[in-house]
Amino acid sequence: MKTFISTPIYYVNDIPHIGHAYTTLIGDMLKKYHQLLGEEVFFLTGTDEHGQKIEQSALSKGKTPQEYADDISAKFKNLWDSFGIDYDCFIRTTDMKHCESVQKAFETMYQKGDIYKGEYEGRYCVSCESFFTDMQAVGGKCPDCGKDTIVLREESYFFALSKYQDRLLQWYAEQPDCILPAHKKTEVVRFVESGLRDLSITRTSFQWGIKLPKSLQDPKHVMYVWLDALLNYVSALGYGGEGEKMDFWQAPIHIVGKDILRFHAVYWPAFLMSLGLALPKHIYVHGWWTIDGVKMSKSLGNVIDPKEVACAYSVDILRYFLMREVPFGQDGDFSQKALVERINADLSNDLGNLVNRLIGMGEKYFDGKISLADTARFYSSELAMLDGILEKLPVWIEEMQLSRYIEELWRAFVIANGAISKYEPWNLMKQNKIQETQALLGLIATILAKASLYLYPIMPAAAKKIAHCLQIDLTPKTYHQLITQKALPQSFTLQKIEPLFPKVESYQMPQSHLSPTPPLHTAPKPQDQSPKPSDGGGLSDQALIGIDDFAKLDIRIGTIVTASKIEKSDKLLKLQIDLGEGRLRQIVSGIAKSYTPQELIGTQVCVLANLKSVKLMGEMSEGMVLASKDKKGLSLLCATAVKENGSKVS
Ligand code: MSP
Repeated sequence: MKTFISTPIYYVNDIPHIGHAYTTLIGDMLKKYHQLLGEEVFFLTGTDEHGQKIEQSALSKGKTPQEYADDISAKFKNLWDSFGIDYDCFIRTTDMKHCESVQKAFETMYQKGDIYKGEYEGRYCVSCESFFTDMQAVGGKCPDCGKDTIVLREESYFFALSKYQDRLLQWYAEQPDCILPAHKKTEVVRFVESGLRDLSITRTSFQWGIKLPKSLQDPKHVMYVWLDALLNYVSALGYGGEGEKMDFWQAPIHIVGKDILRFHAVYWPAFLMSLGLALPKHIYVHGWWTIDGVKMSKSLGNVIDPKEVACAYSVDILRYFLMREVPFGQDGDFSQKALVERINADLSNDLGNLVNRLIGMGEKYFDGKISLADTARFYSSELAMLDGILEKLPVWIEEMQLSRYIEELWRAFVIANGAISKYEPWNLMKQNKIQETQALLGLIATILAKASLYLYPIMPAAAKKIAHCLQIDLTPKTYHQLITQKALPQSFTLQKIEPLFPKVESYQMPQSHLSPTPPLHTAPKPQDQSPKPSDGGGLSDQALIGIDDFAKLDIRIGTIVTASKIEKSDKLLKLQIDLGEGRLRQIVSGIAKSYTPQELIGTQVCVLANLKSVKLMGEMSEGMVLASKDKKGLSLLCATAVKENGSKVS
């Protein structure tokens, strides 16, 4: 079976933020899920680069629209690459092949009699690239975004949208889940029932767009950006050209935000009907991410950079949070507090600990080799409950009830954790009930094996680590055996893995662009808020501390024993430091731009030793190396003579 999945293509007048990441991560999740089912998937994303809005943004930056589009498009592509997004095509609407496909489609619709020439008179919102009547644009404002509209009166080609009104209504009625969640479909049906007007699909008052097909001999027109943009879904498959892959266009799945629903649920299916192409199987409509209930915007300075979240916590954790925190279709508020709570409760407690316990007990009692010969005999009710949960998971994903899907999946971990508490394997061992214990660990391993298949689309990296621990593959074959056929493996040989989700003790992301986040109950008190000399502020009374405050700092001399770079970070080095404690301390320090690992080995430095441990870029850091910074760069603080490791600085 061939499956087509798309995200919207992103306007290049904005840099990527977590709202964009949300749509793309969901697309990647769906691809992984459908691949597990054994389907061949084409996953499409890209950038929307034409139109008046982009032309204006480029001009205001002193760039040509193409230069401007090149810059921002690369930012989107690089972000998705760094997130491991498994797209099959990253389309740009300035690609020559896309432009040719769009012209081909225009010609087809024109020849069919669905496009005619006329004059458009009405209002236009450049920000939404959307047409409105005077009645709709109350007070001249855009009903969607509230910005001022402009008055347009220009020659235009029209698409005969009104002709498709009845067929659209028939489609909504015959295919109940074509738009999900269902209440979004109701909105669309009401809109279409209220009457459709033909759609202006060309513009003459600006130039940054695709020209009409040569056969029309009308060079002053460029295409309306939404016609151009929507057609990316088929141009990416080579529509109308050589070597096309239109066999993927059977029952396409689109993921869109609520703001662009009308374009996808009304105009797009009408264009498809006109072109004689298959209609979408599902249009999944998601809500918006806000910050403290406010829309993200560059001017408010509250835009959350997905890369920053991923660097601080991991891509997997960002995926989990976005998909778990808010029911799909609803708006959601992004906060670091909520994210850390999810890590500590769901990931660390429920899942990470479970894997640790399995590895620990498996090693201790059975040398890592667990036979399941007796699992079905002793734990049949737990296995039946597990099957009951797993059976329903595909429904939640098909209905795009993602938070519910994850919630239900987590019930499998609850069964596993519950079985450990209930049967107490350590007591079973004391009573010499070896078979029961082995069967119990077999049950836990089975739950993790089956659940890791379903976890894979949501958290691919974590699922792969669990699969490695259990020595299974996350492939359609394993899915078929363990899920479809409900097979019970015969045995597991466990591999030790690093703890999956260590507890997060303090926030890992700066708060500058977020409103103040309440401290975590385990986090240190908010840091000194006084002006720093580097801020240009002088020392004020506020900055003074008593000797008691200073005495709280445990600063010691230590020798750097090893130093190494941290992958994907150009700022951080990982140091092992001897503080005379009989063990080495690992400290992650932001000094990579000033020191090479080599030159640090053997150096004595000052270390703040009683700082709470944190995780940075996935590495534990148990203290802070002290350094001073000015315009010339950074310099480590050292004693003037060699001191014993562990000597106190006072
Ligand atoms: N270019 C059009 C789409 C054309 S598709 C043929 C467009 N681009 S956009 O960059 O403005 O938006 C792309 C997607 O990002 C939309 O689905 C939109 O809903 C989504 N988001 C933009 N900001 C968002 C949030 N703050 N939260 C969640 N998603 C939001 O529209």
